Amino acid sequence: MRRGSIVALLGLALIAGGVATAVALVPTWLPEDASQEAGRIAFTFWFVIAICIFIFAIVAAVMVYAVLRFRVQEDDFEDGPPIHGHTGLEITWTIIPFILVTSIAIVSAIVLSRNDAQAKDTLRVDVTAQQFTFTFSYPDAGNVTSPVLMLPKGRSVELYMRSLDVIHSVFVPQFSQKEDVVPGLVTQLHITPTRLGTFPLECTELCGLGHSLMRSQAVVMEPAAFDSWLKKQGKTAAPPSSTTTSTTSTTTTTSPSAAGLSVFNANGCSSCHTLSAANATGKVGPDLDNLVAYAKKANQPLEAFVHDSIVDPNAYIQPGYQKNVMPGTFGQSLTKSQLDAVVSFLVQSAQKSGNK
Ligand code: CUA
Repeated sequence: MRRGSIVALLGLALIAGGVATAVALVPTWLPEDASQEAGRIAFTFWFVIAICIFIFAIVAAVMVYAVLRFRVQEDDFEDGPPIHGHTGLEITWTIIPFILVTSIAIVSAIVLSRNDAQAKDTLRVDVTAQQFTFTFSYPDAGNVTSPVLMLPKGRSVELYMRSLDVIHSVFVPQFSQKEDVVPGLVTQLHITPTRLGTFPLECTELCGLGHSLMRSQAVVMEPAAFDSWLKKQGKTAAPPSSTTTSTTSTTTTTSPSAAGLSVFNANGCSSCHTLSAANATGKVGPDLDNLVAYAKKANQPLEAFVHDSIVDPNAYIQPGYQKNVMPGTFGQSLTKSQLDAVVSFLVQSAQKSGNK
């Protein structure tokens, strides 16, 4: 090989590699890391990208060089020279990819096992997914529940995830951790948050009409703030324990309507329904501020109508909405007192808004 062609090949490789590197580095492809796991995933990502850019530069350089240098003349219809392989070259282009692919496998295996490794003081959080909401509870703190995933910064956290109906999936892009939630299984996800802030937590498995609305948040707090939050929730939470992120105050009273509101929020009703008494703005299901009108249309007394609509959602379908969207499992999953509380809460608020 002449010196000139080596220089030309190197030049082309540098140009191709430079362009590919710019494409990799200039746009922001990954969300900012907010967990130890995300840092390791990002390392793996850039490790693979660096290898890809290296290979791309060589292939692009040889291809462009060959096209320019060995282009046939327009009147040349001869066959090319017969080539019978080149053992050295073949060994080289087998060994190099073998080493690169093996190194990717090793790095990935180390990262995956480290990402799943729990620390001794791992915090357990139980996650319940259902159409179309998430509930997070803290079994080590008297089963405090929250519609938002609250996490202490720097602590190893393990999510134990269950689904009450179909397959959902939990994903926080900034944590780079994602796992399906499958009915009949308890799936696990490990997170060690490293950055304070509020991050989107989304369902990433098409799970029904309200899938796109099945969103919550992960809030990372200082450990001390987290502990005092947990304590405060433990004290104020009446069964069923619940926390509201809404502005409605449920902390001072435990009146029947507060208990009903608590059930309403803890079971994710607000992700599908609008109800001004709960500051809920869901649009998947009927607007619960109009319950009086719906009951009239269904030709039922208000209270019986509300009760039946929760226990057997398909019994009456408001025109414009579909059957089988609302889970039919609330009759089993709610206790009698929870059901009574939420029914009387809905009846009260419906009467209020019905008198407008
Ligand atoms: Cu749950 Cu999509």
